[in-house]
Amino acid sequence: MTLLIKNGEIITADQRYKADLLVEGETIAQIGENLSAPDGAEVIDASGKYVFPGFIDPHVHVHLPFMGTFAKDTHATASQAALIGGTTTYIEMLAPAGNEDLMDAWHLWSGMAEGHSACDYSFHLGVTAWNDATEGYLRELVAGGMTSFKVFLAYKGAFGIEDAALFRTLTLAKELGVVVTAHCENAELVAQLQARLLAEGKTGPEWHEPSRPEQVEAEGTAHFATFLEMTGAEGYVVHLSNAKALKAALDARARGVNIHIESVIPHFLLDKTFAERPGVEGAKHVMSPPLRDRSNQAALWAALDRGEIDTVATDHCPFDVEQKRMGDGNFTRIPNGIPAIEDRVNLLYTYGVSRGGLTLHRFVDAASTRTAKIFGLYPKKGEIAVGSDADLVIYDPAYRGKISAATSHVNNDYSGFEGFDIDGRPSVVTVRGQVAVRDGGFVGDPARGQLLRRTPHGGHG
Ligand code: URP
Ligand code: ZN
Ligand code: ZN
Ligand code: ZN
Repeated sequence: MTLLIKNGEIITADQRYKADLLVEGETIAQIGENLSAPDGAEVIDASGKYVFPGFIDPHVHVHLPFMGTFAKDTHATASQAALIGGTTTYIEMLAPAGNEDLMDAWHLWSGMAEGHSACDYSFHLGVTAWNDATEGYLRELVAGGMTSFKVFLAYKGAFGIEDAALFRTLTLAKELGVVVTAHCENAELVAQLQARLLAEGKTGPEWHEPSRPEQVEAEGTAHFATFLEMTGAEGYVVHLSNAKALKAALDARARGVNIHIESVIPHFLLDKTFAERPGVEGAKHVMSPPLRDRSNQAALWAALDRGEIDTVATDHCPFDVEQKRMGDGNFTRIPNGIPAIEDRVNLLYTYGVSRGGLTLHRFVDAASTRTAKIFGLYPKKGEIAVGSDADLVIYDPAYRGKISAATSHVNNDYSGFEGFDIDGRPSVVTVRGQVAVRDGGFVGDPARGQLLRRTPHGGHG
């Protein structure tokens, strides 16, 4: 299998140049001017297009038992939607309930992906509780290449971790050199505020945000940072949504805490008025942390621009309209989550680069390169260089379109971004040298995806 990509403009986190790319087998074999096509090579003309390294989404939910139901995607639907949108690798999280065996969860989650994903994938190890078996399992799975943990400070009585278990998890992570990702909201405050609002008869989706206000996330972020400081572990705050939480994370970083920051595409573009729409229209936009007051968006974009926010992910989590109706009359029962796996790259390109002044380099860095570095995938992923995997996105900045559930490939019946314009889309996407997408359609091997074994990171990428 040989591919020659001609006349494109190669964009990486720190370089921009016109060159041809020769792909042999699964990797990039040569980069140069006027390369000639070996016999039998497919030649792709990338004139007028950008060539980006495949994008990486480090925060997606595919199999997720949550609030008495399951997120809708399978690895077949999620991976093909991801690829159509330019994402060539994702990291899912094992989410055992507190009393479930971590090794059972590993077999369940990895079994669901194996042979069913069109793109490469890996897993964060969800640590929801600590018992006699936990440490041994974590050591074994880390040795097998799953070099990141995931903890929830939120979701009391479900995924939420107690402080004693958090301390042990971080102490082990420090020893093993793995990064710990964390959902940072104070679980007790959420539970108390939910109960108070419901007692006052405040039951609609517009009360989801007031039940977990910005301060509750800032407290969770500061709490996590303090635990990182006491253990010396490397942390990664997921889906940071507002300026107060951002300040908590940056204050910690300023005093030397090793903390990375992720924000997700819904928080850059959607505000709490979406969740204030009546009934199920509001419920479609319920996620945690909640969509915030619009004033936070400028703070997030500015921090992304400066590189203070390291990465942009999705927190892709599709529940359909019927599932969202489980919360009719009680907002605490609305399954949390918004699907975005197909749309992240196009939205970040459109509202960041095309309309917002984000540089192409920071765009690539936040959605691919820095993510690869933090999670032990670099330079196999996240880079355009000889020897790197040929996961490539040939991007057409002249394309104009709109996001709609009607044209989406995610297994869901609504889009949180219905009607949003996009100023570009991938025209060709490759997975380790094989063409997977052409002009919005999946044309690849539905079982090409491989489980990625990662290396411990241990330091700022
Ligand atoms: O609302 C969200 N984010 N749902 C998925 C679970 C999580 O918190 O990441
Ligand atoms: Zn979360
Ligand atoms: Zn999540
Ligand atoms: Zn790093």
